Parts: sequence; C-alpha cells; structure tokens
Amino acid sequence: METSASTYTLLGPFSQILTMAELPESGAIADEELKVLEDAGVLISNGEIIRVDDYIKLTQEAEQYDYAVEVIEEPLVLMPGLIDAHTHICFAGSRANDYAMRVAGKSYLDIAKSGGGILDSVRKTREATVIELVELLKQRCDRHLQEGVTTCEVKSGYGLSVDEEIKMLEAIQLVNKHHAIDLIPTCLAAHMRPPEFTDSKAYLQTVLNELLPTLKEQNLANRVDIFVEDTAFTEDDSAEYLLAAKKMGFDITVHADQFSTGGSKVAAAVGAVSADHLEASEEPEIELLRTAGVVATVLPGASLGLGMHYAPARKMLDGGLCLAIATDWNPGSAPMGDLLLQAALLGASEKLTTAETLAGITTRAARALNLTDRGQLAAGYNADMIAFPTQDYKEILYFQGKLRPSKIWKSGKPVINGDLNDQ
Ligand code: NIG
Ligand code: FE
Repeated sequence: METSASTYTLLGPFSQILTMAELPESGAIADEELKVLEDAGVLISNGEIIRVDDYIKLTQEAEQYDYAVEVIEEPLVLMPGLIDAHTHICFAGSRANDYAMRVAGKSYLDIAKSGGGILDSVRKTREATVIELVELLKQRCDRHLQEGVTTCEVKSGYGLSVDEEIKMLEAIQLVNKHHAIDLIPTCLAAHMRPPEFTDSKAYLQTVLNELLPTLKEQNLANRVDIFVEDTAFTEDDSAEYLLAAKKMGFDITVHADQFSTGGSKVAAAVGAVSADHLEASEEPEIELLRTAGVVATVLPGASLGLGMHYAPARKMLDGGLCLAIATDWNPGSAPMGDLLLQAALLGASEKLTTAETLAGITTRAARALNLTDRGQLAAGYNADMIAFPTQDYKEILYFQGKLRPSKIWKSGKPVINGDLNDQ
C-alpha cells in the first residue's frame, strides 16, 4: 500500500501560474485583479489541488514530507483547463452545403424554413447508430482536449423524439465514461418542433411526460435547454415547459436572443442558470439577466459561422453580468469549435480585458454550468490544468489561438504531453 505522503505530487517550477482565483463573480474585471504567481508550483493529491505556492517553498516541504516531484524543465505558464459551456458536438453528417448557401447570401433562418438547417442534422443523426455517434463525438472530444478543453457541455437536440434523444444522451454518457474530458450533458429536445408533430405544445408535453423522467432515472442529463425563436418555440410555450422541467429538478439554460429578443426574458422569468447566444440583446435584456442573476454565455463561433455581429459582451460586463464564452460547436451555425481562438477574437473586437476573456472560458464558464469544483487553480479545486510554452500569460490571447497548450492534466493526470506548437 502507498504511504499517504507518496500520494502528494509537486509539479513545477512554472514561470507563471495564472490561478483565475479570487475574481469577482460578475461584472468587469481589471487585469490587475488577476492572481499570477511567478516561479510557482502546484501540489496535488487524489486529483485535487492542495496548494499553489512559491516553488522553492514547496520543494523544501517536498523533502521534509517526501512528496513525489515532477520537475518541469521548460518555461511554461500554467492555468486552469478550459471549459466549453455550450456545444452540440454529438451529431452526424456535415452541413457544408448550408454554409455554401449562407456565404452566397441565403439566411440561416431561410435555410431552416426550407427544410435544411437543424432538421437536416436531425435526419442524419437519426440514421446514425449509437456506436457511430460515439465515434464521431470521441473524435471531437480528442480535438477539444488537445486544444485545452478539459470540461465540455454537450447538448442533445438532433434526435427530437423520445428514443432518438435518449440515443444521443446515451452516446454522450458512453464517451464521458471512457474519455479523459468531462462531458456535461444537456437535454435540448426542444431544439425545433419535429416533423412528426404539427403542434409544438403537444411535442413539449410529450417531452415532459415521456423523456425527462427517463433522463432523471437513468442519470442521462440534469440540464434542460430550449431554443426560443420564431422558427423554434414561442416565449409562452418555452416558459411553461422550462418551469415544469425546473420543478422536476433540472437546471435550466436557454438559447436566447440569437436573432430576436424574447429568450432572455424567459430565462430571467424561470430563473435559468444561463442564457446563451444573446447577439440581439440590448440594455433592457442585460438588465433582466442581471436582476435575475442569470449567467450570459456568448458564442462568438456562431457569429463567425453565420457572418453576423458578436453579442455585446463589453456592455454585458459593464452592465454587471457574469460573462461566459463558449463555442456553440455544431454542424450548422458554428462548425469551427475552437474555444481559445474564438474567445481571443471576441475579446479583441469587444475590448475585453485579458482577465475578462480568460475568466469567460474558465471560472465564469464553470458558473454557467453550475460547477463549483473547477475553473480555478486553488486549494480544493480539481487539478484540471493546461500549460502554454511561454513565460508571459498575456501571450496566450496575443497569439489569438495559435499558441496551444503543450501539457494538459485532467484531475492531476497528464493527458497530453508534447509540443503541439511544433507540428
Ligand atoms: O446554437 N440556434 C440554435 N441551435 C444551434 C444551431 C444548431 C444547428 O444549426 O445545427 C445554435 O446556433
Ligand atoms: Fe447552441
């Protein structure tokens, strides 16, 4: 049996440790508020951070208490693993055709109305077996983890029937069991009204009666999402559905204000954890979200994929919101799925501080998912960590996604250890 001392591992020295700890939970953040430790180390036990401190101090203790020491030979900046709080990466097929039509001038909503768009991915995802979905999802998780994402939310929503939604959530559960990345599943059965139903209310009622209880029983998801928009679900139907789901114990999140406002009103009224998209939001919507304490998750990848403006992230922070930044990685509006690159571009356009952008993909993204055990490097947090080959944390955003993590640890275990920047 191992002695208790040998279960402690000291990692270091790092040129800098960017802890993302002790930051305000919402509103603007100045870079001076970042807690950055120079020549520091991190002490880990059982996948958890015990302490982040001066490396020399920790090495002296290491001798005394016989910690295992993993010496870092090259200059690296360590920060928390990235958290992508909004994706749709469980899908089959490609929508390159939609993309070509959009860049040639057709709108996303027009393509959806003519039977393409989300319903096209529904057809292809329904045709796929669980095994095929698992393989496709696993490949996307491999890429995300390699790019520094250690926790990733994944929505269903391309099944749109009780059985097909369960199939998607089972695929997500299977990958979660076997992949180093942590997946946070969300039920988005209310993505669109499926072709089999003529009445949206009747569909939502079926989801409430027949799908959500099974998800609870089988532990397939504890979050519920809906797309509030003219082409999807009305404000009233959405509010009624979400309140019923909340009563069943689900956390609530909303696809809100992507093309027209209304969704953030629903999110605030039902006490959602987060409202996501928000490209159409203005001051009144920001105020609604602030008063209700709803996290604003903005999705620059959808703006890039659709060739439209970003959500007003600067105004949201100045208006006191907790701002998370996620990829929305999906086959239609956001095919790129590169969290660091997209956050850097959003930050440059919206004039976000380095602290605000990095908080949006770490500690504030954890809040968007109601997770209190990750997103910071501090005692008691998961040792989900990524290290960049630089001595200055400011270079992480400066290179706009081209500087990649060269070491990645999930719950203290190394998962990627190589120089991706040389490839
Ligand atoms: O978040 N807006 C609704 N749903 C997704 C797009 C899904 C798709 O186009 O397949 C989104 O952008
Ligand atoms: Fe989305």
